[in-house]
Amino acid sequence: MYLDFYNLKTEPFSLSPDPKFLFLSESHKEALAYLRYGLIQQKGFVVITGEVGTGKTTLLFTLFAEMPQKVELAFISNPALSKDEFFALLAEKYKLGQVKDKADFLIRFTRFLENSFLEKKEVVLIVDEAHCLNEDVLQEIRLLSNIETPEAKLLNIILTGQPEFEHILAQPRFRSLKQRITLKYTLKPLNLDETISYIQFRLAKAGAKDINIFTEDAYKKIFSYSKGIPRLINVLCDRALLTGFVNETRQIDEKIIDECIAEIGDNNNYLATSNKESQRAVTTSRGKTFKLLATAVVILILVVVVLICCKPGYLGEYHKVLDKILEFLGKYNG
Ligand SMILES: Nc1ncnc2c1ncn2[C@@H]1O[C@H](COP(=O)(O)OP(=O)(O)O)[C@@H](O)[C@H]1O
Ligand SMILES: [Mg+2]
Repeated sequence: MYLDFYNLKTEPFSLSPDPKFLFLSESHKEALAYLRYGLIQQKGFVVITGEVGTGKTTLLFTLFAEMPQKVELAFISNPALSKDEFFALLAEKYKLGQVKDKADFLIRFTRFLENSFLEKKEVVLIVDEAHCLNEDVLQEIRLLSNIETPEAKLLNIILTGQPEFEHILAQPRFRSLKQRITLKYTLKPLNLDETISYIQFRLAKAGAKDINIFTEDAYKKIFSYSKGIPRLINVLCDRALLTGFVNETRQIDEKIIDECIAEIGDNNNYLATSNKESQRAVTTSRGKTFKLLATAVVILILVVVVLICCKPGYLGEYHKVLDKILEFLGKYNG
């Protein structure tokens, strides 16, 4: 809509994870280096976490764009799957044919890994949004990483996800998976200087001749609103260009940015939501442990009640035992 007005060839602040627009901040550079290592490591897991919108998926798409032909890749971007669905999806991605059950999958997959090893091909499994993985599926992924020859592990695994994934990994049941993580990195948002360079970089990539469409004060406002999160920067800058076009203003100043922030809404809601999600992940796992403990205690008490009631005088009078239990349960629930 505003492209001609600003002499742009394409939208500068689109929300798609397009590697052509990749801006390499220090943190993005580091994360990309770890991802590249993850393709060839033959050792364990690489885990990258980061807030929503910091650029995890964009980095993965960059990795795919430069991936050598001899890599056998399964990329799972929507991992909220049951175990059966997960195995079926992997079989489809690695072209293993129709698999009957888990045993059938493991036989075919092991053969596939061994053949790829002989052909000097890397086999890589990448799961984006790994915080959505069903915990049983996460355990299965760990078990798949055990398949090895005496010389090397045969499957390289990269997991990327939101910060709550770290809370999931911190649970005792994922102890051994955690030990397998060779590299773990948290992708950081941009700082103010990087935010300015990021905006100018995207404008230049979109064909702008003048990359100084935004004023210095506008940059500061954009940074304080977005906290350096690229997705929020994109949303705000896109809206600002549209507003500038409607007002026939080629320079975007802090007044326009203020107006757009008021329209879009306060991003504190957004950050608060994302923090709440992290909290929820922790609370849910604590809640589960509490429920298990409570059930164990109730069962123990029931056993004691039954034993007391079954002393010689009571033997043969099962209805009394039953009454006692029902009475106890009634009290317990009440
Ligand atoms: N380093 C970057 N360079 C260019 N654009 C980026 C970068 N990081 C994020 N973005 C942009 O921000 C938006 C959100 O990025 P995305 O990769 O989907 O984040 P995440 O997967 O962490 O939620 C996309 O529009 C993407 O193009
Ligand atoms: Mg993503």
